[in-house]
Amino acid sequence: MRASGKLMVGNWKMNGSLAANASLVADILAGIDNVSFQAVVCAPFVYLSQLQSLLVGSTVALGSQDVSMHEAGAFTGEVSASMLRDFGVRYAIVGHSERRQYHGETDVLVASKAQRALAAGITPIVCVGESLAEREAGQTEAVVKRQLAAVIHANGHCISEIVVAYEPVWAIGTGRTATPEMAQQVHAVLRSQLQAATAHAERVSILYGGSMNAANAADLLAQPDVDGGLIGGAALKAPDFLSMLKAASC
Ligand code: PGA
Repeated sequence: MRASGKLMVGNWKMNGSLAANASLVADILAGIDNVSFQAVVCAPFVYLSQLQSLLVGSTVALGSQDVSMHEAGAFTGEVSASMLRDFGVRYAIVGHSERRQYHGETDVLVASKAQRALAAGITPIVCVGESLAEREAGQTEAVVKRQLAAVIHANGHCISEIVVAYEPVWAIGTGRTATPEMAQQVHAVLRSQLQAATAHAERVSILYGGSMNAANAADLLAQPDVDGGLIGGAALKAPDFLSMLKAASC
């Protein structure tokens, strides 16, 4: 939810080790000097237990990178929302473009995952974003609206409890960032779509993601509808992540 400050989420993707995680978290915790924002780290499932211990008593919240659309049962390899709750997970990324692209996740499936997370008291971070071909064909708005519409449709009045992350696919891991104006334009579209669905659209944090880094974070975060960031590569380096948190506290 869009609380008082920005929401800054590190998406570690499939990176880390017991040793690397311990040192990254120690460096992050040592460098955080105020709490005017909410920081979150989304770790691989196998490290959630480790992260739960490392983050205990800190202001940094724990997140997962996915969640099953099913509640329990014969779903080999899946991890349920209630299992995530057992490990203190407060946020779950759903519908990341890498899941949509490499695992065939559809809008409807992503919407079910968001629903399952909400039912377990976990805030889903719903990712939307267009590919380069879609942007060049002038379809950006239509694509992100279609992706968000599925989640709105499945979640009804609970929609004010989600977080949205706009991540243009062409900007993820490429070093090519949307300009602050491009991000704001899409964020404003998403905000008005949320406004049409709920009287509490202002509560929804809309994050930008895609090559956000220490150099461009402040300008992106200065946009009126950019409520935080979903950060991949730069979240794996404590100094970079910390300087982005600093930008979020201004
Ligand atoms: P990036 O990844 O910051 O490395 O581009 C962002 C994301 O995929 O969430």
